[in-house]
Amino acid sequence: MRQRHALITGATSGIGLASAKKLREAGYHVVAVGRDAERLRVLEVELGVVTRVADLAQPESRRELGDWIAARQVPLDVLVNNAAECVYESPLTLEPARMSRLFEVNVVAPIELARAVAPHMPHGGHIVQLSSVTAKHLANAKFAPYGTTKAALEHLTEALRLELHPRGIGVSTLVPGLVDTPIYDKLPNFESTRAKLHQHVEVWLEPEDVADVLLWVLSRPPHLVIGEVTILPRSQAR
Ligand SMILES: NC(=O)c1ccc[n+]([C@@H]2O[C@H](COP(=O)([O-])OP(=O)(O)OC[C@H]3O[C@@H](n4cnc5c(N)ncnc54)[C@H](OP(=O)(O)O)[C@@H]3O)[C@@H](O)[C@H]2O)c1
Repeated sequence: MRQRHALITGATSGIGLASAKKLREAGYHVVAVGRDAERLRVLEVELGVVTRVADLAQPESRRELGDWIAARQVPLDVLVNNAAECVYESPLTLEPARMSRLFEVNVVAPIELARAVAPHMPHGGHIVQLSSVTAKHLANAKFAPYGTTKAALEHLTEALRLELHPRGIGVSTLVPGLVDTPIYDKLPNFESTRAKLHQHVEVWLEPEDVADVLLWVLSRPPHLVIGEVTILPRSQAR
């Protein structure tokens, strides 16, 4: 059987890194996309993946990645739109430029990549989008800008489903709750909220938990597509 080819964004950290590892273990040829060239070089050696540097906040960088995908000899069977940025700030104070950047990375980039990949994707191909429980439930107002990008992504993903399922391409959304990844280290002024969240939800998911679900979704038989999976730490489900 032909080796399946997968491209995953945000492969240098957290859920993306765990997923790139599990995809390799499952025998996929993996294209790992990130913006940190040094960390990508390490992945090339450690995991045997092909890498591409791209800053998904930059239209030119996204265009270059799209052109590279279109020029590939072997079409991609799987696209995992995992990369995202997070902010923790009220929409009443968030700088408009920061809000725009959030939409560029979290909404525009995944759709542009789907557009680059879909025309060449074979029957049985699969696009997986990483959303978040904040798309539907806000712990507080400061999660709204991030959650809004995920809600927009979910709606656009529904459109991808309508367009691509008739062509035999699966479209799935993973909706994690709290996962212990570096995404939270990147948020200024988040420490007290993080401590409160830990009081409510003592044990968070590991990135590997989400990667396991990704692999499960991708390994369903062809007549069956998982639309959306919510993945929660047990005590967040209360
Ligand atoms: N952790 C959670 O609790 C949680 C919950 C629900 C959903 N999610 C979703 O899960 C996905 C993965 O998040 P994570 O928690 O694994 O976060 P993470 O550890 O911060 O990883 C995010 C990845 O995206 C990359 N990235 C960010 N901005 C980028 C840009 N402009 N261009 C290219 N790459 C960029 C990061 O690169 P750098 O390392 O260079 O920044 C990193 O590789 C995201 O879609 C996130 O929204 C996470």
